[in-house]
Amino acid sequence: LLVRRPRPSLAVARAASPDAATGSSRSPASGGQMLVFVPPHPLIKHWVSVLRNEQTPCAVFRSAMAELGRLLIYEACRDWLPTITGEIQTPVAVSSVEFIDPREPVMVVPILRAGLALAENASSILPATKTYHLGLRRDEETLQPSVYLNNLPEKIPEGTRVLVIDPMLATGGTIVAAIDLLVDRGVTSKQIKVVSAVAAPPALQKLSNKFPGLHVYAGMIDSEVDERGYIVPGLGDAGDRSFNT
Ligand code: URA
Repeated sequence: LLVRRPRPSLAVARAASPDAATGSSRSPASGGQMLVFVPPHPLIKHWVSVLRNEQTPCAVFRSAMAELGRLLIYEACRDWLPTITGEIQTPVAVSSVEFIDPREPVMVVPILRAGLALAENASSILPATKTYHLGLRRDEETLQPSVYLNNLPEKIPEGTRVLVIDPMLATGGTIVAAIDLLVDRGVTSKQIKVVSAVAAPPALQKLSNKFPGLHVYAGMIDSEVDERGYIVPGLGDAGDRSFNT
């Protein structure tokens, strides 16, 4: 498990486990270990802080989650979305240009409920993406996840890039179950990027053990998960706070 700085604009927040290695010079695309990115952007810190505040009203919480999602998805797409090049005529001269390649499929998979708020801006950032929802609930006693909605297509085109959106990576049960559903349909962990608001060591360790080559983008890494499965200090129940329930 690596928490590292792959480019000047991304930085290490904190090693997610005591055995986390840092400072490797391998390229992020070289596979093997899971990488965790915590982009050191002041706006990301700002929106995480707004989310953490228990006084933040529901409507502000929702828009803060959406803004955080926009920034994290933007970072996750860096060096990841394929482009096509060509030439066009501007009003002044001929210019070489680069567009997102519409032939390369990109899927967004928000995990209900709270993933809806974090994924709110995904379709406006990503020009031709398709969104497929997964609904997973975790039993409050056992903390085990169960799937109540699976909208994934039976056949996922080979090489599809997949963004899995889950705001809270706590014990890791839900995110692991969600990625298992994608793997069942032929997606490899190297095709997947997980976007989350707050991540905790138990989830990161589980993901790292099970899905080598996975990339995780988080607004913040917190230190622990309590006995009820809440991230500490965290931000509370992201679903309840997003939907005022
Ligand atoms: N899910 C949440 O909404 N919050 C947590 O702290 C952990 C899981």
